[in-house]
Amino acid sequence: MKRRLIIAGAVLTSALTVVYATIAVAAEIRYEAETAPATCAGTIDSNHAGYSGSGFCNADNAVGAAAQFTVTASAAGTATLGVRFANGTTTARPADVLVNGTAPQAISFEPTGAWTTWVTKTVTVPVSSGANTIRFSPTTAGGLPNVDYLEVTTSGPTPSPTPCAPPSPTPSSSPGRVTVWLAGDSTMANPSGGAACPAGWGGQFAQYFNSNVTVRNSAMGGRSIQTWLYDPNVSSTKNAAGECVINPVTYSARWQAMLDSASGMKPGDYLLIQFGINDGTAACPRHVGSARYQQLLGMMASAAKARGAHPIFLTPVAAIRCSGGTAVGNRGFITETNSAGGANAVPVIDLHRLSYTLYNALRLCPFNGDYNSGPVGAFFCNDHTHFEQAGARQIAGVVAKAIRDQQIPLATYLK
Ligand code: GCU
Ligand code: CA
Repeated sequence: MKRRLIIAGAVLTSALTVVYATIAVAAEIRYEAETAPATCAGTIDSNHAGYSGSGFCNADNAVGAAAQFTVTASAAGTATLGVRFANGTTTARPADVLVNGTAPQAISFEPTGAWTTWVTKTVTVPVSSGANTIRFSPTTAGGLPNVDYLEVTTSGPTPSPTPCAPPSPTPSSSPGRVTVWLAGDSTMANPSGGAACPAGWGGQFAQYFNSNVTVRNSAMGGRSIQTWLYDPNVSSTKNAAGECVINPVTYSARWQAMLDSASGMKPGDYLLIQFGINDGTAACPRHVGSARYQQLLGMMASAAKARGAHPIFLTPVAAIRCSGGTAVGNRGFITETNSAGGANAVPVIDLHRLSYTLYNALRLCPFNGDYNSGPVGAFFCNDHTHFEQAGARQIAGVVAKAIRDQQIPLATYLK
C-alpha cells in the first residue's frame, strides 16, 4: 500500500509539471460579439449599459438563434471560453456550445438579475490549430441571453508524446473521489420530512461504498423521466404525437444542478437512472410514450458522457405481486430501457428482474395482503410499491451486487 502511494505521488508531480508548462504559454484574447467575423442571429444593441466595445448581441428569442465567434488558436489544444452575458429574466437560458459545428456541450445562462448586470461564465473546449468557430446555439424558445463578448484563453500544444511513463500499478488501484448521482422516482428517493416510510433504495446506497464515494440522491416521488427532467414545465395537455406539452422547455432545477459546469457531474462520476413506474400513466403530466422515454434516457446519457461521467440505466424495481407462491414481474418500460442501453452503449441493470428474484429468495409469496406483519410487512410500507428502510437497504444491496457482477468499474469503490 505504501509503495502505491509513493508511485501515485510521482505521477502527480509529473502531471503538475505539464500543467505549469501549459500555463506559461497561455494567452487571453477578447472577441466582441458586435465585431465581424462574429455573427449574431438578431440585432446588435446598446440599450443596456455595462457592455464592452460598442454593443452586444441581442439574438432572437428562438431555438438555434445563435451568437458565433471565430477564435484563432496557435496550436491544437484546449481553450477556456469566458462568455460575458446578461439575462434580465427569471429563467435560465440553456444553449449548446459547438466548436467548428460539432461536439455540442451544454451551457446554461442563469438569470443575472438585470439586463445591465453582466456576468462571465466559463467553459473549456477542444480547439484545432488555426481558426475555429465557437457557436452558442440556444436549445429553448427563450433563446440566448444578451452576449457581450467571448474571452478566450488558449493553452499551448497538447504535450506529445505522453510526458511520463504510464503509472504502475494503474490509477484504478488507488481511485480518487467520485460522486454517484441518482435520478429516479419514489422507489429511489430519500424519505421526505423524516418519515420512516416510504424509503427509497437511493437513500440506502452509500453504505455499500467506501469513503471515496459521495451519493447525491435527486430521485423524486411521483416523477416520470420527463417530469423529473422538466418540472414544473410539463403541462397536462397532449400534443398531436400524444406526448405531454412542455412549456417553457426549461430543465428542472435538479437536472440543471447535475449539468452545472462548476458543481455538477465531473469526469469519473456515475449517473444512475431509474424511471418507468410513473411514466406509464395515461394522462399528462406524467405520461411518457415509449419512443420519448428512450429519447430522454439517451439525452441524459449523452449529457453525462459529455462531462466525462458514466451513465447506468436501471429497469424499474418490481412491486410485490404473487402468482401463488411465486413473485412475478409487474412493470413496464423494460424493453425500452434495454433498447436505450443498447442504442447508447450504456450498461443496464435489470433491477426489475433482480428485485422479484430477491422477493422469491425471501419467500415473500404467497402473500395474504397484510402489510403490517410478516416478511412483506417488514419489507414494504402499506402498499405493494414502497419500501420500509429494511426493504430499501436490501434493494440497494441488489444494485451494488449487480455493479460488481456486471463488472461496472464503479465496483472498485464497493466495500
Ligand atoms: C428584453 C431586453 C433585450 C433582451 C430581451 C430577451 O427585450 O431589452 O435586451 O434581449 O428582453 O428576452 O432576450
Ligand atoms: Ca434577445
